[in-house]
Amino acid sequence: MYNAKQIPPVLLKSAEINRKNGENDFVLLPLFFAEEALEPYIGRKTVEFHYGKHLAGYIDNTNKLKKGSDFDRMKIEEIMLASDGKLFNNAAQVFNHYFQFEALKPAGQGASTPSGELKNRLEKAFGTLEGFQTKFSEAAVGLFGSGYVWLIAGKNGELEIVQTKNAENPMMEGKKPILNLDVWEHAYYLDVQNLRAKYVENFWHIVDWEKINERLARCTPFKPF
Ligand SMILES: [Fe+2]
Repeated sequence: MYNAKQIPPVLLKSAEINRKNGENDFVLLPLFFAEEALEPYIGRKTVEFHYGKHLAGYIDNTNKLKKGSDFDRMKIEEIMLASDGKLFNNAAQVFNHYFQFEALKPAGQGASTPSGELKNRLEKAFGTLEGFQTKFSEAAVGLFGSGYVWLIAGKNGELEIVQTKNAENPMMEGKKPILNLDVWEHAYYLDVQNLRAKYVENFWHIVDWEKINERLARCTPFKPF
């Protein structure tokens, strides 16, 4: 059941701004970059469909399903944590997709690497940055069916990699996500067909590590929620 005390700090900037003024409906935010900006790692057509059709569809469904209910004025993450069934599936997908898209950066800006506190914590948890990437990639390639791989901050600030099925989100278990990767086929099939490992390899070129660092900072001081 819904319990306001269980709602974590907002980890997703998009969720704070994705309503029209004075209205309850969520809206699809303009994409954070041009549709072709992730090429050659993720193609324009994939972004067009993934953001403009799949995410848009989850937003439309969430709006329809919550209309007139107790969920109507809640933030997207509150709905995700308080609902079940179709509403949960759609609301969680809205959160999960914004969470990934807002942490991608245009390929032309060049790859970045984790730094500062994030780098320290990754090395503490996984030995080296390469060790982290290898474990995360293995979890992404090895996840059977549809779902996500996440880097999460545990209750004491320790970093862990977790897999979730379908639309599920680690916040349901009181964990704080700071990075995710969608491994539903719709995320990569147009680009690399069945080669999920290639999609995962491409992903590392366009992660916005500044954003992940910001999210880690927002998780401190790691009080349980
Ligand atoms: Fe997706």
